[in-house]
Amino acid sequence: MNSHGISDSIREKLDIVDVVRDYIPELRKAGRNYKAVCPFHNEKTPSFNVSQDKQFFYCFGCSEGGDMFTFVMKIEGLTFVEALKKLAQKAGIQWTETEYHQLSAKERERLDLKKIMSAAAEFYKKLLFSSNGEKVRLYLGGRKINKATVECFGLGFAPPDEQSLTSELARQGFSKELMVTAGLGALRANGLVSDYFRNRVMFPIRNAAGDITAFGGRALEDGQQPKYLNSPETPLFSKRRTLYGIYEALPQIRKEGRMLIMEGYMDVIAAHQHGVTFAVAPLGTALSTDHAAFIKRYSKDTILMFDADDAGIRASVRASDIFMDAGMYVKVADLGESLDPDEYLNEYGREAFDAKLVQAADPLEFRISALLRNRTGAMASQDKAKIIEALLDTVVKQTDEILKSEWVKTLATRFDVTQESILRQLKKKSVYAVSGPADSKNREVETPKLPEVPAIEQGFIHLLIKDASLISQAKELTATDFQSPISKSLFSAIRDMEGSDLSKTISRLIELFPEYAPLIMKLSVEELGPDMNTPQNAAKAAETIRRLSLERKRKELKSRMGSLKQAEMAEYMALSALLKTTAKTDF
Ligand code: UTP
Ligand code: MN
Repeated sequence: MNSHGISDSIREKLDIVDVVRDYIPELRKAGRNYKAVCPFHNEKTPSFNVSQDKQFFYCFGCSEGGDMFTFVMKIEGLTFVEALKKLAQKAGIQWTETEYHQLSAKERERLDLKKIMSAAAEFYKKLLFSSNGEKVRLYLGGRKINKATVECFGLGFAPPDEQSLTSELARQGFSKELMVTAGLGALRANGLVSDYFRNRVMFPIRNAAGDITAFGGRALEDGQQPKYLNSPETPLFSKRRTLYGIYEALPQIRKEGRMLIMEGYMDVIAAHQHGVTFAVAPLGTALSTDHAAFIKRYSKDTILMFDADDAGIRASVRASDIFMDAGMYVKVADLGESLDPDEYLNEYGREAFDAKLVQAADPLEFRISALLRNRTGAMASQDKAKIIEALLDTVVKQTDEILKSEWVKTLATRFDVTQESILRQLKKKSVYAVSGPADSKNREVETPKLPEVPAIEQGFIHLLIKDASLISQAKELTATDFQSPISKSLFSAIRDMEGSDLSKTISRLIELFPEYAPLIMKLSVEELGPDMNTPQNAAKAAETIRRLSLERKRKELKSRMGSLKQAEMAEYMALSALLKTTAKTDF
């Protein structure tokens, strides 16, 4: 079966509402559609719609939309074929990517990349358990990582040799180009390809679906730089979207509805080994808004636990800002020791660690303690003002109004000032936060502009999209009567489809005009007013559009009155007469 046949069979078996609900359990029926808070942009009130009739989703906030395949592709970051595979499985249809040559070049490349990544992981793993790997096993043992954990995370060893992995991969038939694209081989000046990772403990990095997309490699020698080396960006791997441990942690994250975000590989591994299996870590980058959007799909509650040093505190503050901006609840756990979380767990164990999670403070409390940490004695008023000013940066980020007012109270009590003065100061900041140019990257995504179509034309196209058979009410109308190129194209396409299966109108329109897809989907999901899609309304709208078009023509002729040819003059007279007699419709 090729991918076309398979997608139709899947569509027959599955309902987009069930597909979406797997990812967004809060999806609720509202009128004819289903609604939820959009998973593709930050918002507080739901503008994400799923239409069961049309088997479409559409978000009025960010204009993302499409069918069940597009949804799975977007939400999981998959290619079309990967989404097909996933939904085929859900539909209980047997389908494997046997028809390899039917895949697009991009899909083939991703498939090849996944194969080479897993071949590399196998190789590194084998070496870890070989005699050469003994010193690495000792190292891991020294860090209290047990064999089960090594296996669960698929850890491995990249030997110091120049061409250990690359020659093995070549032996298995992988090309040099693929090794380089995958970030496993580095192209040297002499044209040779050598191993990218050398003399390192290897951590395979998996995406949420469990595919190995990259590696992290930790140095084995003191002074070997960098301490952690990550795969370069590849078609499979984007560092700022990836969280280490996500595949291993997802079941528990789903169960608990919360996620623990730590600083590095070793922390995540130690946490899992001690049973804290909802822990993940970014890959040596600051948490990005991409991360937040991704995390929000799985859990609204996030606990941050970074190292207790200055860099860790700064990272915690920045990350909590991003989460608050995304409308998520975030707490910051503080181990209060100069130990990294992995060391803490090994030293004090699970119970002490859990207690620290329970004590996790909200971002304001966390910042207050961080700012006051090394202070003693009374505070000069100026210092106090400075500290409050800094803390208000956190308060202003809080999108939950109840929490925000609690925080104002906290500040007033803590620093012994009036709530009014805090509120006034906060107001200054809020005004700036809304209109100011600062950190626009953290604001809600801007709504992409949909093309402008005259209201009457859009209204008519809306009717046709809801019920294409209404086109029979527009016998006199031609595509040239429309002003906007979009309504012209959509109208002629729908007219061409007259008499064929109307249930496929929307998917066909989107196929024909991918550039108008957002508008088409918006209209297909958007409710019409009550009793709007009647033949009478359609006829009236068609008549108005026709009349407006004639009026435009007449006006145009009139503007060239002095130089009209005879035929044009005749047309002008005819139009004037016609427009006088036809009753004006008041649409
Ligand atoms: P740390 O240096 O705190 O690592 O960097 P760690 O977890 O304590 O490492 P161990 O315990 O010495 O093995 C935290 C994270 O920052 C990234 C890595 O993701 C690391 O886990 N990092 C650090 C890099 O990407 N490159 C580096 O050179 C260092
Ligand atoms: Mn460490």
